[in-house]
Amino acid sequence: MDKERKLIIAGNWKMNKTVAEGLDLVNGLKRELAAVKEVDIIVCPPYTALSEVSKAILDSNIRLGAQTMSEHQNGAYTGEIAAGMLKEFSVRYVILGHSERRQYQKESDALIAAKAVAAHAAALKPIVCVGELLEERESGRTEAVIASQLEGSLKGLTRAQVEETIIAYEPVWAIGTGKVASPQQAQDVHAFIRSRLTALYDEAISRRVRIQYGGSVKASNARELMQQPDVDGALVGGAALEIRSFSDIIKNSI
Ligand code: 13P
Repeated sequence: MDKERKLIIAGNWKMNKTVAEGLDLVNGLKRELAAVKEVDIIVCPPYTALSEVSKAILDSNIRLGAQTMSEHQNGAYTGEIAAGMLKEFSVRYVILGHSERRQYQKESDALIAAKAVAAHAAALKPIVCVGELLEERESGRTEAVIASQLEGSLKGLTRAQVEETIIAYEPVWAIGTGKVASPQQAQDVHAFIRSRLTALYDEAISRRVRIQYGGSVKASNARELMQQPDVDGALVGGAALEIRSFSDIIKNSI
């Protein structure tokens, strides 16, 4: 597939995998995916596995991401992890504002924006998540919700930083439910996100930003989703936990 933007497919392990299980997974992925050059491949283990997974993928085409981080650089924030600490393990990406964190940790757009600023300051690339709830879609508010999450979560970033930010569109009703957005539904929202980026910044920026789709991505639906003109990758949950399913998603997307 020939796309202007390089595909970026990330596995969000969420709160799964011990160190040993994580190593089994990435060692298998290394074997399966060694020849892949067309896709940026990212794994996002829990914090406890970052150190060992980082060493295991050193000599591979797999890159490391974290699932969240603090907006602060250091200090009295019990339980939090700063960008500089992630850098110690060669983390390059960090997921911010995942819907589970918006829901359970009550993360706001303003907080996510502060985290994105801190990530860029440490030269980490944020993957900023947006997505509507089922009732928002059913009441015709999808675009309004996405527009406001997008603008709020990118506030304070320079234009150059926005260009280096990855957006993940993850409709909340499709996460972990087996209910995937149709390729057309995904494309429509991705095109809308790109049009908002043009309005907020400019067309050159909006053309370069990569937009991932997330929500029940599997080996069987990845190809059609990735073929949509404005879908530039995937953020995968459940299917990223097994060697076979994650590597098939990547192979089927090429
Ligand atoms: P599932 O692929 O399990 O639906 O999860 C999507 C997700 O939340 C990735 O961040």
